[in-house]
Amino acid sequence: MIHYNDASIQERYSTTYEKVWKEAEKALQSLVAKNGKGKDFLGWLTLPDASAENMDPLIQTAKEIHQSGDLLVCIGIGGSYLGAKAVIHALYGDDHCIRFIGHHLSPTEWEPLLEELRTRDFYLNVISKSGTTTEPGIAFRILREFAEVKYGNSVSRRIIVTTDAHKGALRTLAEERSYRRFIIPDDVGGRFSLLTPVGLLPVLSAGADIDHIIQGALTGFKHALLSERDNIAMRYAVNRMLCYREGKGIELLSSFEPRLHYLSEWWKQLFGESEGKDGKGIFPASVDLTTDLHSMGQWIQDGVRSVFETFLVIENYHRDIEIPYNEHDLDGLNYLAGKALSYVNLKAFEGTRTAHEDGGVPTSTFHLDYLDEEHIVKLCVIFQVAVAISGYMLGVNPFDQPGVEAYKKNMFKLLGKPGQ
Ligand code: PA5
Repeated sequence: MIHYNDASIQERYSTTYEKVWKEAEKALQSLVAKNGKGKDFLGWLTLPDASAENMDPLIQTAKEIHQSGDLLVCIGIGGSYLGAKAVIHALYGDDHCIRFIGHHLSPTEWEPLLEELRTRDFYLNVISKSGTTTEPGIAFRILREFAEVKYGNSVSRRIIVTTDAHKGALRTLAEERSYRRFIIPDDVGGRFSLLTPVGLLPVLSAGADIDHIIQGALTGFKHALLSERDNIAMRYAVNRMLCYREGKGIELLSSFEPRLHYLSEWWKQLFGESEGKDGKGIFPASVDLTTDLHSMGQWIQDGVRSVFETFLVIENYHRDIEIPYNEHDLDGLNYLAGKALSYVNLKAFEGTRTAHEDGGVPTSTFHLDYLDEEHIVKLCVIFQVAVAISGYMLGVNPFDQPGVEAYKKNMFKLLGKPGQ
């Protein structure tokens, strides 16, 4: 179960709530009827495609990789890596066989990666919808050459391409070299592609359970697409809009679970790239708590009152740790002896929420029963539907990203790319 507590926001904005709720209803209708902006990019609403034709090759390939114990190096940027990284980190922390590269242009991470690949067997999964993005393109060039030297004639078995069905350099290369190929549907944009092979192949290769993923997606979409008062995605979209219109232009996603760090990174892309256009949009920021209470806590409590906060809290853990009793009690912590660490974390959350509310920060909270495949995927689905609704309420197209091209044009010119 995911429970969403937004009582204090509803109370704070009680006079305008109904009006904004009606706007959200219209936005949801548009989304479901597929007649709004970006209507050709709504394929994500029915993901994942659980047909045997789609799922069997994916599951087989992931099983082969997982059972081999080899590394899987995922090459991609933006929507072509953040979803997989978010789910894998949430489920396994750093304890998995998946590596990510091609999401920056810095040389620093290359030598440790290549060092590891010299001694361990690996698969490559290059992921790019356009097949032309510079960062993953360069990374794939480096690693393909490396793999060819290491594996010789058998290299094609170790390279898997996830790309567009019809166009792009990657598709051509995959055909020419007989690499295994998975398709990113035409009607699904990068940041909505978690439940396509873009996210599923790495996530399943790490060992995640496909049935639980499907279950999370099914229940997530079932509730998020109904115009009802207990629709969490709608409530969240409405609350964001109420805060934004009061001048709260920054949303902080504040998680009390470090394993959700990359989920916040994925969320930032989802909301930033979907809403930040035409001079509009809430700036999505995130903090890891309680860690950042000792760095950003002061600003949140006391700085410019331009922020609202969305908490992420895990209610139950399969493994917990008990705080020990100490007979000397020099640290004065015996009052916590015998308590679970997660209990202290929950109290820290409650204390923080009240403090921030008192400091003028509107808050709402997603409570996840457990940190597992089903809850994570369901939360992702809720966020995807919410950003579509709030994008429509802002009057923007939530499914394009024209602004991303500006830096590329300048960079290509500076690099002397032919034809620029
Ligand atoms: O959400 C998006 O569409 C973008 O963030 C893309 O995922 C990102 O730019 C990578 O593009 P591509 O998959 O074409 O390499």
